[in-house]
Amino acid sequence: MEFAIETENLSKSYKTHQALRRIDLAVRPGTVLGLLGPNGAGKTTAVRILATLLEPTGGRAMVAGYDVAREPREVRRRIGLAGQYAAVDELLTGRENLILLGTLLHLGRRQAKERAEVLLERFALTEAADRSLKTYSGGMRRRLDLATCLIAEPSVLFLDEPTTGLDPTSRNQLWQTVRELVGEGVTVLLTTQYLEEADSLADQVAVIAAGQVIAEGTPDQLKRKVGQERLEITLASRERINAAVALLTASSTVAPAVDEDKGTLSLQLDGGIDSIAAISAALSTAGIAVDDFAIRRPTLDDVFITLTGSL
Ligand SMILES: Nc1ncnc2c1ncn2[C@@H]1O[C@H](COP(=O)(O)OP(=O)(O)O)[C@@H](O)[C@H]1O
Ligand SMILES: [Mg+2]
Repeated sequence: MEFAIETENLSKSYKTHQALRRIDLAVRPGTVLGLLGPNGAGKTTAVRILATLLEPTGGRAMVAGYDVAREPREVRRRIGLAGQYAAVDELLTGRENLILLGTLLHLGRRQAKERAEVLLERFALTEAADRSLKTYSGGMRRRLDLATCLIAEPSVLFLDEPTTGLDPTSRNQLWQTVRELVGEGVTVLLTTQYLEEADSLADQVAVIAAGQVIAEGTPDQLKRKVGQERLEITLASRERINAAVALLTASSTVAPAVDEDKGTLSLQLDGGIDSIAAISAALSTAGIAVDDFAIRRPTLDDVFITLTGSL
């Protein structure tokens, strides 16, 4: 199987509203695709179709080697979908929830128990295992939710905005877990509005807006598409900013940008290391002391703003 997830012209209309327009995706096994887009872009619609919860109105989709419309049962046996809190019971403990879901998945009581212990351990929930879900924090709920998706050891995992609303520590833990799962060969499709999240986890990113893929590639490719590296210069004394701007404006084709708050100047780097050396020499000759030179690569935020700014 070349792709764990593959779509062709995948489309979905809700009455008159076209939520997905001819989406083509191809995700290799054991990799992460980040579906990056703002609210209303069509991310959840795409995930629900791929997870067989919603029927497409056009095109087709294969998941784990099966067609989502024609072989939904085969697909369902091989996938996990996080964010389906409907599956858990607030009054039961974390352990009871996992065992119950395991038996519902026909694991058999003993195997369900074993699987629950492994997952509780993996998601650092062993200590909280005998507390009812009511007492769980947002981060713990998210971990238990992910644990429930893994009971049946899916080969393809869908995570719809998995870290929305999480604190940074919980978010980092979840990122680490996703990396581990991918290391074990699981294919992950995650949706996010966080550019940093796609950058940190995804092998490939598809930027989606208004139901269309508007750009795709590795995070690095997307960044390169948008802009070059910039050199950020922090002067030792803010009083010299104007002098530095005048000097750099005279010696470069593009005027430097000034960030008054940070007290920094930044300018596009056309000539790589050579131009850094030239700038450094020019400032030094003019007696303008520099505290710090930093090379700033475009972030996915820059990518997103540039790409969606034209829509
Ligand atoms: N059941 C529905 N009926 C009509 N329109 C819907 C329905 N679900 C979603 N939409 C619309 O489809 C678009 C995409 O929604 P969604 O897939 O939830 O986007 P995202 O997850 O990226 O925020 C939005 O404009 C949304 O309002
Ligand atoms: Mg959504």
